[in-house]
Amino acid sequence: MSKILVTGGLGFIGSHTVVELQNEGYDVVIIDDLSNSTIDVLDKITSITGIKPDYFNIDLKVKSSVQDFFKNNKIDGIIHFAASKAVGESVQKPLEYYENNIGSLVYLLQEMKATNVNNFIFSSSCTVYGQADELPITEDAPIKPAESPYGNTKQIGEEIIKDSTKVSDIKAIALRYFNPVGAHPSTKIGELPIGVPQNLIPFVTQTAARIREQLSVFGSDYETPDGTAVRDYIHVVDLAKAHIVALQRLLKNKNKSNFEVFNIGTGKGNSVLEVIKAFEKVTGKKLNYKLVDRRPGDITAAYADTTLATKELGWKPELTLEDALLSAWKWQETL
Ligand code: WQD
Repeated sequence: MSKILVTGGLGFIGSHTVVELQNEGYDVVIIDDLSNSTIDVLDKITSITGIKPDYFNIDLKVKSSVQDFFKNNKIDGIIHFAASKAVGESVQKPLEYYENNIGSLVYLLQEMKATNVNNFIFSSSCTVYGQADELPITEDAPIKPAESPYGNTKQIGEEIIKDSTKVSDIKAIALRYFNPVGAHPSTKIGELPIGVPQNLIPFVTQTAARIREQLSVFGSDYETPDGTAVRDYIHVVDLAKAHIVALQRLLKNKNKSNFEVFNIGTGKGNSVLEVIKAFEKVTGKKLNYKLVDRRPGDITAAYADTTLATKELGWKPELTLEDALLSAWKWQETL
């Protein structure tokens, strides 16, 4: 069976994707520098699937290390998650974000070209759309000027990949994620935010677990039904499965162009207050929260039009927001 490199494979979305790849019978090799993950995730993946992935602790910002890896490992495709992803942090440390997210991408693509590895799945983000003019958001919605260096690295990353496919045999698919949430039903892997969670769901579960005193709801004066911001919360297992079908599209040469983009979300928007109510309903926990000012840089609403992913990839979400919130809570209880 094909051997697939998963960079960032010990991270939140990466680890769930490794599990689904192994479930499909793929041979998986992980590169992860542990900058935003822990080595015990490797054993957790193994305990779920019964197969221990190959693992290399490589810093993809070091060109010679990337070259050595490709010299010694014959792979059939790459799913590239490894990147810094904290929006706020990227504003404070832009050069670190450009060095890590762009530098490592360039080295990977250079070695792919040099060693004739031609199937590439890129972890992109709905953040490239900014506040879209129309909802739900389709793949041909205009790309807006990035609101953060993190978002800019996703926009620039897509451009770099597109340009690479024009001068090589590389075929690539960028998956623009909406808001990944939840955890694996085994409760062996899930989201492991370092420090104070920036994202909503880990902050919700840590508040329910009394690790955090109170959840602040950022903004209650948005032009939405209940005044709080709306997002498209996609279960991480559904998101992981989207990577498998995208990879298979490339491996079977079913792609219609050498650079394709797909929005991966549920197609449904939920407000922060709706998420809180759903969490309280599925867990029976009462959440301590307060309405505060908006968070700078946040958009009012975003949710995906998933027509293209369903039509071309045959993919559609199977799990609900409630499934995701319950799985996130069950995962939190194991920490
Ligand atoms: C969701 C909603 C907040 C925390 C970002 C990136 C995106 C992706 C996911 C990496 C917003 C509100 C949050 C809190 C709150 N990142 N919120 N209180 O900002 O939609 O997307 O993370 O891949 O690229 O842009 O996600 O979870 O931070 O916020 O009220 O303590 O929850 O204002 O409306 P976001 P989020």
